[in-house]
Amino acid sequence: MQDMKDKEIEINFRDVLKTPIRWFGIVYPYFITVFILLGLTFIHKLDIIHTNETPPALKDTSAVVEDLTPIKGEVSTGIDLGSIRKPGDKQIQKGKELYVANCAVCHGEQGNGDGPGGMALQPKPRNYHTTEGWKNGNSFSQIFKTLQEGIPKTGMTSYDFLPVDERLDIIHFLRTIASEIPAPTETEIKEMDQTYSLSAGKKVPSQIPVSLAVVKLDEESKSDADIVKKIVDNISNGKSETGYSVFSKVTVNKKKVVASLLKSQTWRTGTNEFLNFVNGNRQSGFKAEVLLLSKDDLTILYNYLTATIKVN
Ligand code: HEC
Repeated sequence: MQDMKDKEIEINFRDVLKTPIRWFGIVYPYFITVFILLGLTFIHKLDIIHTNETPPALKDTSAVVEDLTPIKGEVSTGIDLGSIRKPGDKQIQKGKELYVANCAVCHGEQGNGDGPGGMALQPKPRNYHTTEGWKNGNSFSQIFKTLQEGIPKTGMTSYDFLPVDERLDIIHFLRTIASEIPAPTETEIKEMDQTYSLSAGKKVPSQIPVSLAVVKLDEESKSDADIVKKIVDNISNGKSETGYSVFSKVTVNKKKVVASLLKSQTWRTGTNEFLNFVNGNRQSGFKAEVLLLSKDDLTILYNYLTATIKVN
């Protein structure tokens, strides 16, 4: 009976508002919905939140490996620094030819920056007859830098493909048409010498991309395989030759024998070196019996091998 009394037949909302616990009981579905929505939003934006919080990671070098760029090897002999201080007529003449061939189309015959090739360029090619507005500068070494590196994002590209002495000759010539370009100072010459190792010369080894190297290696090993096959064919065709019977007696795998002997030159110097080679290369395709051959048979085999196993 007591129970019945506690239960209300109809909810009296005024009373509910007075007792907070019951009030919560009615609004909790609302809170749960809000929490779930917040949670969903959080999960949805997780990648953004994540990237905003993590400090910049180190470049993942395992993902994309940039291949090497091809570099054509060059060996430049050292420059006589005296020729930079006092260029000869020949150098200036050479510089003029190079200027006409490479630069005049943009910079104009007289260096006024009015060559036909520069009309549409923005910025315009430099007029050498003014000292203002130069990006690198109008000193001898600054012009050398311009020729080495170019001016990024302009029509002025790098001329590092011209040998160092030719670039120097061009600048010598420029000085004859533009008095605005001063003679190089001793400090400048010294600094240029250090930066570009002018007097020491340079040795740049050739470099090719790894991907290309792999292709090349593959081609090479293919042609190796061709050579091996050719030699093995020759051997099989010459079964009547004296050395053949000894040869076939001591070999397990003719191809292997030919391939491994082709790779080495040491065994060719004598029967002892040949035995050393076989002893040290257990994968060379010979049977162990080869080490037990009589002296005569060994000589026959050795002569046979030196005669048959060679390129061409
Ligand atoms: C395709 C046109 C073009 C050719 C060819 C060209 N240049 Fe330029 N050169 C430019 C342009 C454009 C600028 C201006 C770049 C700037 O102001 O940012 C420039 C700027 C220069 C400058 C001034 C750099 C500075 O400090 O502001 C020098 C020096 C120069 N060139 C030398 C040469 C020489 C020497 C050659 C030939 C070996 C050459 N250029 C060939 C277009 C050319």
